[in-house]
Amino acid sequence: MTKNIVVVAGGGGFIGGHLVKRLLELGTCHVRAVDIKPLKDWYQVSTAAENFAGPADGDARDFRVCRTICHGASDVYQLAADMGGMGFIENNKALCMLSVLTNTHMLLASQEAGVKRFFFSSSACVYNADKQLNPHVTALAEADAYPALPEDGYGWEKLFSERMCRHFREDFGIQTRIARFHNVYGPEGTWRGGREKAPAAVCRKVIAAKASGDHSIEIWGDGTQTRSFMYIDDCVEGIGKIMDSKIYEPVNLGSSELVTINQLVDIAEEIAGIKLKRHYKLDAPRGVAGRNSDNTKIRSYLGWEPSISLKQGIAATYRWIEEEFRKECDPADAKSLATSGFSHGSKPIPGDGYVAESRHMDTWRQGIPVGYGAGG
Ligand code: NAD
Ligand code: GDD
Repeated sequence: MTKNIVVVAGGGGFIGGHLVKRLLELGTCHVRAVDIKPLKDWYQVSTAAENFAGPADGDARDFRVCRTICHGASDVYQLAADMGGMGFIENNKALCMLSVLTNTHMLLASQEAGVKRFFFSSSACVYNADKQLNPHVTALAEADAYPALPEDGYGWEKLFSERMCRHFREDFGIQTRIARFHNVYGPEGTWRGGREKAPAAVCRKVIAAKASGDHSIEIWGDGTQTRSFMYIDDCVEGIGKIMDSKIYEPVNLGSSELVTINQLVDIAEEIAGIKLKRHYKLDAPRGVAGRNSDNTKIRSYLGWEPSISLKQGIAATYRWIEEEFRKECDPADAKSLATSGFSHGSKPIPGDGYVAESRHMDTWRQGIPVGYGAGG
């Protein structure tokens, strides 16, 4: 029997890499993994998948690439996006909004190819900022996205693309699913370079402080801001369940374990067996004051919600980053890795994906294109 073809766009990224692996483990489909990064830069490469890598074959902004990868497919998971943690999205709004090309062309090509189910990875950044002004935040329910006042740039793009999914479903009958991910973390993801989110950044900083012997840590903001963090295994399980469900409207996919950033640091310190002096960088990108996931809707549909504790997840993440740190970093550089940097106004990779020798080929690494330098 021929297997269904399933496309994972963004398959060289953090969540996409784990999803490809899980789909292959299930063994029921033929997986096409697609990413603009060359294969050597993918977090995980599954050789059992059909891999479309690099700007020429894997740029999902390009409609021709989308047509090729969606041809004959039954399911599409659209995870490809130019994104990162607060340091990246607050400073690269234009770049984040350009993901609208990817979402539009993936939807169009899927509709044209007769794809049955289309999964869109939206974000908690779509929620109205006025509902996230207090660290003691009331957990965000799906209706809190409207009236619209999302995160500038990245959040607007996600909200727009959610609407596009809805109208493609209503007008063309393609079965779209939309999950609003709340901060996802775990092994095999971004932990340095400027796009990392708080869980990976904090683990790296604690590891670097230990390695350098300078027992201090820089924390963005005043440490009282709150978030919930979802471990990658819960995320991948949730994606599968939502795809198999009849949840057509956007649904939260996030942990409801609310912590302050200070408590996140406590957990990493406990794992490291160290206590660090904390320095608060008040002018660093901070985002909303508080954010949590109201899981009433996902529970009512699925009788399930993410449940892996932050302590358990951070322990696994810390161990993985520690190992990467050991492989990649000279102890003499440890001090520089104890702080987080970010760049402003990175330029997109130009062209239509057929420019093999683009001088901006390194954009995805740090959000800092070759020749443009950092800072700003
Ligand atoms: P990631 O950056 O690790 O993965 C995204 C991948 O998309 C990258 O490998 C990148 O190279 C690829 N990509 C970017 N532009 C592309 C293009 N034009 N064509 C093909 N590939 C392209 O990020 P992630 O954490 O795995 O996130 C996956 C999805 O989930 C994204 O859509 C993101 O916005 C969404 N999301 C993630 C989080 C989170 O906390 N990780 C939270 C909310 C939403
Ligand atoms: N990234 C980062 N790095 N954040 C830090 C650091 C650090 O070194 N130190 C403290 N923080 C603080 C940030 O200032 C912010 O207040 C909080 O930790 C969380 O930051 P992030 O993890 O970068 O992002 P976020 O939770 O505000 O938003 C993320 O999650 C959304 C979904 O919930 C982003 O990844 C969005 O792209 C994503 O959609």
